[in-house]
Amino acid sequence: MFEGNRVVAHTRSRYPIFQSPMTWIARSPLVSAVSAAGGMGLLENSIADLSVTTREFSAIRAATNQPFGVNLPVRYLQANQNEEKKIIDWLLAQGIHFVTTSAGDPTRYAKLLKDAGVIVYHATATLRGAQKAVDAGVDGLIVEGAESAGLRNPDEVHSFALLQAVREAVDVPIVAAGGIVDGRGMAAAFALGAEGVTMGTRFVASLESPVHQNYKNAIVNAPITGTILTDNPPRARSRGLRTSYAEGVKEGTRERHQGRATLDLLYVNGDVDNTSGSAGESAGLIHEVKAVRQIIDDTVTGFWREIDRLAALRPQIRQGQQRPVRSA
Ligand SMILES: Cc1cc2nc3c(=O)[nH]c(=O)nc-3n(C[C@H](O)[C@H](O)[C@H](O)COP(=O)(O)O)c2cc1C
Repeated sequence: MFEGNRVVAHTRSRYPIFQSPMTWIARSPLVSAVSAAGGMGLLENSIADLSVTTREFSAIRAATNQPFGVNLPVRYLQANQNEEKKIIDWLLAQGIHFVTTSAGDPTRYAKLLKDAGVIVYHATATLRGAQKAVDAGVDGLIVEGAESAGLRNPDEVHSFALLQAVREAVDVPIVAAGGIVDGRGMAAAFALGAEGVTMGTRFVASLESPVHQNYKNAIVNAPITGTILTDNPPRARSRGLRTSYAEGVKEGTRERHQGRATLDLLYVNGDVDNTSGSAGESAGLIHEVKAVRQIIDDTVTGFWREIDRLAALRPQIRQGQQRPVRSA
């Protein structure tokens, strides 16, 4: 169905649909469900703890024989260099074939991993970051528009312009991130130059996602204006649900939670109002919690429906062009 697609050739998955790496959420239940359904599940590694990586990796392998990948967030791993080396060595010993890098300069990892025969995609939110990653030798890019959830770069632009700019500048395959929840978004991303898509918020609101039901419901109930950007010093900003807490942080009347607080308060205990759970503008397009397989099947079906719809415009456009122009 996606023969000739370069992303699928790299991932060996059935569909060029990734599940974004998300702290604590992108672990074995979600990753294995995505991979079993034909997508590309990605195991997150943001706490840089080999025992977590080995436990989750082994659980995914036990749950599915379908391909999955691992995300290496450069800055977080480099903060713990002893663990960084152990994690990378262990993953290579497992014969891992697909890695994404994010949050930092991919140069060192790209060299190390590519020398070991691993396919490497780098996630970036800027044109400059994309060009640097390609110069570093990565095989593909994950291009994150400003609609995306989570930590955001202050210099970024939205997907509509960013995807086209990156497509013009580089030749490697692009996976689009931000604002995508279904086949319509996927077809639009392909029109702008992507060959694959990744979804974060959509998979948070899935049956297999481990977060509290209140968080999933808050995503489902969010209007299209339901997210907000707040400063996240020293450099970044964060996009999350527009709650009274988030409004307070933006206005400076509430302290931003530090460390694991959001995880405990929201993911585990479901306190939506006193947190701002990561969510993209895509939250406004999500209307129900669905099983992962349903999300992926619906996305693929919807993608081909949109491609057929666009293809059907051709004769109409041709006819329109051939119609003689009437003088007034
Ligand atoms: C709950 C949540 C947690 C996230 N955590 C991370 C993370 O730990 N590291 C990362 O690189 N991106 C993280 N992201 C961003 C995603 O990788 C991805 O870029 C984004 O979700 C794409 O936009 P979308 O949510 O509209 O699909 C997170 C996103 C969400 C929704």
